Amino acid sequence: MNALPYPPELLRDVARRRTFAIISHPDAGKTTLTEKLLLFGGAIQLAGTVKARKSARHATSDWMEVEKQRGISVTSSVMQFEYQEHVVNLLDTPGHEDFSEDTYRVLTAVDAAVMVIDAAKGVEAQTIKLLEVCRMRNTPIITFVNKFDREVREPFELLEEIEAVLGIECAPITWPIGMGKTFRGVYHLREDSLLRFAPGEEKRSEAEKLDGIDNPLLAAQFPLEVGKLREDVELLRDASSPFNLDDFLAGRQTPVFFGSGINNFGVQEILQALLDWAPAPLERDGGARQVQPAEPAFTGFVFKIQANMDPRHRDRIAFFRVCSGRYSSGMKVKHVRLDREIKLANALTFMANERVLMEDAVAGDIIGIHNHGQLHIGDTLTEGETLGFKGIPYFSPELFRQARLRDPLKSKQLQKGLQELGEEGAIQVFENLASGALLLGAIGQLQFEVVAQRLQTEYKVDAIFEAADIYTARWLTFPDETTRRNFEREQQHRMGRDVDGNIVYLASTRYNLDVTREKWSKVGFHASREHG
Ligand code: G4P
Repeated sequence: MNALPYPPELLRDVARRRTFAIISHPDAGKTTLTEKLLLFGGAIQLAGTVKARKSARHATSDWMEVEKQRGISVTSSVMQFEYQEHVVNLLDTPGHEDFSEDTYRVLTAVDAAVMVIDAAKGVEAQTIKLLEVCRMRNTPIITFVNKFDREVREPFELLEEIEAVLGIECAPITWPIGMGKTFRGVYHLREDSLLRFAPGEEKRSEAEKLDGIDNPLLAAQFPLEVGKLREDVELLRDASSPFNLDDFLAGRQTPVFFGSGINNFGVQEILQALLDWAPAPLERDGGARQVQPAEPAFTGFVFKIQANMDPRHRDRIAFFRVCSGRYSSGMKVKHVRLDREIKLANALTFMANERVLMEDAVAGDIIGIHNHGQLHIGDTLTEGETLGFKGIPYFSPELFRQARLRDPLKSKQLQKGLQELGEEGAIQVFENLASGALLLGAIGQLQFEVVAQRLQTEYKVDAIFEAADIYTARWLTFPDETTRRNFEREQQHRMGRDVDGNIVYLASTRYNLDVTREKWSKVGFHASREHG
């Protein structure tokens, strides 16, 4: 499509947007980095704000407590701030791996990600999983190797590990001088400048231009470290790849920065890289066609639903990523799945620690829409066109339970509760086609606990979750109606329906899955499906 017909103000506003998430293994320093980024953006004044929230979220019981103090968790879900003429949207992802499904969905709504690596630990399990998800959409990744104020691993070794384990090429942009007690700062390889480390400073001192790594100033200041730095830099020039914007944008290469988040060191460089290199909102696959971000007609999709923001109203907020056009309060949009018009009023935006009414939102921005059940994860809204944004994944759960009521008279409430919690993505819910039994599928054990608690408090249902003889679920596709009927006749007792009506096979064991698959070779068994 030609760029000319796009409204110039919209083009300009879209170009100013940067929408990203931070991914890391727990404890690598995501919360600390978030906080420092927000400080830079002027979105918060006090260090410790995000941190305090996080520590309250750490233990299960505390986490639920926080969830009960509605509003707190949602404000930390999306943070918008302005920095150097740009509007930056930072989407938070739950730290606990039991809620990783939520994280996967959030990652579909961003245009870039910052990956934090603990320099003492290197690449950890959760980072591997999250990077895989980024890979599905070729999301550009900026890497921050954190905690260089501690005794950590050698930087070369860390780069090698990132390349080998994550399969992404590293392009170091800064290089550490020393570490731990002798951490002096970083040498900026592209700008040939020195960034001096001073522990505990909120704003770091200015970069000093060096005119080459042989500058005697370095030797005079860091007599013990300069030799190794020179060796390293020489090696890097031979052995590492220079930064290449196209490779970065294609998700093949990651620029790497070294620093110490807690000391606010290296953070500004990350923000600068986001502004300079990370993409502004790009075109998105709208199913029927590609949607350009500066198209005047408003479109977007729901990627997350957060319940109980306000206990008095039992409202749910649908988090909606704008993909094109401009939001204005009171506008009428088409809810594509329901084929119905709905009015968008009082959408919310999120400014670090408060909710504010949204006046204006363009591609890349996230708005919060009050939702009374009409919006599901994956739903597309447009100004009339029939589109369906792709890419929000549902993965086959790893843990299964069967829900049973203590009070059989409450079965309607249980059904309603589980349907709603399923639509919200808190857990996956399947109904057995033969018996009508309700099955819950989760990635992490904590999800069951949260659902049990919410059923009790919000739906007044006391349910017991019993072991279910299910190994895994596979979404089914059939080549034709006859095969479908035959399959159902034979396998009905092992078939289920998810909250959106899709049919799954509920395998009892790996062997059971293999045998059924072999027998029904024309039927598709899928380990994941897209919402919508
Ligand atoms: P997370 O969100 O990824 O889970 O990590 P978070 O920022 O909470 O950081 C995890 C721990 O690592 C915290 O310590 C934090 O202070 C520490 N940390 C973060 N960045 C750095 C850094 O650059 N250098 C050093 N030395 N430590 C860092 P904690 O003991 O768990 O919490 P706290 O008592 O410090 O608050």
